[in-house]
Amino acid sequence: MGNDRAKTRSHQAVLLANASQILTLWAPSPGPRRGPALKELSIIIGGAVLCFAGKIVSVGTTKEALRDLWLKKNRKTVTEIDCAGKVVLPGFVDSHTHPVFVNPRLVDFEKRIEGASYEQIASAGGGIRSSLDAVRNAPKKQLADTVLTAFRDMAAHGTTTVEAKSGYGLTLESELRSLAAIRDAASTWPGTAVATLLGAHVVPQEFQGRSQKYVELVCTEMIPRAAREKLAQFVDVFCDKGAFSPAQTEQIFAAAQANGLAVRAHMGQLSETTLAPFLRFKPASFDHMDHVSDSDVQQLAKNDTVATLVPGANYFLGLKDYPNARRLIDAGVPVALATDYNPGTSPTISMAMAMSLACTHMKMSPAEAIAAATINGAWALRLADRKGSIEPGKDADLAVFAVNDYREIPYWFGANRCTHTILNGILASGD
Ligand code: NIG
Ligand code: FE
Repeated sequence: MGNDRAKTRSHQAVLLANASQILTLWAPSPGPRRGPALKELSIIIGGAVLCFAGKIVSVGTTKEALRDLWLKKNRKTVTEIDCAGKVVLPGFVDSHTHPVFVNPRLVDFEKRIEGASYEQIASAGGGIRSSLDAVRNAPKKQLADTVLTAFRDMAAHGTTTVEAKSGYGLTLESELRSLAAIRDAASTWPGTAVATLLGAHVVPQEFQGRSQKYVELVCTEMIPRAAREKLAQFVDVFCDKGAFSPAQTEQIFAAAQANGLAVRAHMGQLSETTLAPFLRFKPASFDHMDHVSDSDVQQLAKNDTVATLVPGANYFLGLKDYPNARRLIDAGVPVALATDYNPGTSPTISMAMAMSLACTHMKMSPAEAIAAATINGAWALRLADRKGSIEPGKDADLAVFAVNDYREIPYWFGANRCTHTILNGILASGD
């Protein structure tokens, strides 16, 4: 999504110099990172990155950067950031968030502490359905302000690209309003937002017992309008017990495809669904993936559909088990990490927190967590030609962390060590 203010201001040149480490994430082989390639960060010690007009111009050692003739001539016009003692990496690509909600779900929070499960709370009238009224009644401006606050908070924590879903309105009008709020927030934020229609989040109360009628509304009205009005790039479905069936998900994917929208889905969060039949729709990602069969793991290893793991949800629901990242990575499935920012299961905007959980509870190495949060997130959004690594010609999306060694990013959990974020060439300071 575009940003006029950002476009004019991005003509400034920015030099990040003297970094302890620059994690370029460059790789010789094309495609999403799998298996051993997931831990290749291609680190430059004592590095510098030069950005101009919103793009990365060069990356190398600081010595090399300072020999650049253009830089020598134009040094006075360049904004310089001394990154001594710091790590520079590609801005995080948070490829799964639900930021269009109004209220935190504090009653659900307390009920879970008292022992109720996510599904018990949902069937007793809490859960996603309890977030709908407030979104249905909120003016677009209020929703856009809320989303913009989340985007800014994310940027302060090192995120430069965000996938943002609708899904808490679940009427034609409120889903389109939610998507328009994402568009409006994106237009005043220098980062990059990718909008996803999640009209198929759950069946709303007024369609209870008539879920097929609701699926028709999603397929024949929501998807065509979102596509025609260019409000979404992706269509998502919560395919699980208590939400939408595999047959309904196929129907929704087919409608998305017919309207020129790409697809992704919440899969295997609460129960296992057979994934292979969906691969003909070339989904950009399957998200959660707590439950997945061996034969589907083998299928996914041969495809570019990314398994996006969201350990914040397991943490916040107080679950003992986490998605089996090792099994997926070791089989060759491309794995991404995302926050799943939402009021019910994962109220965090912090990618560093998601990475920390991936290291401590899913046995991903810090290097794997970094690649999953950057370049593979970019693959999950089909933006890897522009995002996710520090290479000349790519968008100038960078995060600077006040740590000497990248392994400290997931190590210092619960603290924000991000000092600067560059979003499409525009500097946002976390100081
Ligand atoms: O990704 N599972 C579906 N959607 C969200 C939860 C949404 C909510 O509880 O509000 C998730 O966990
Ligand atoms: Fe989600």
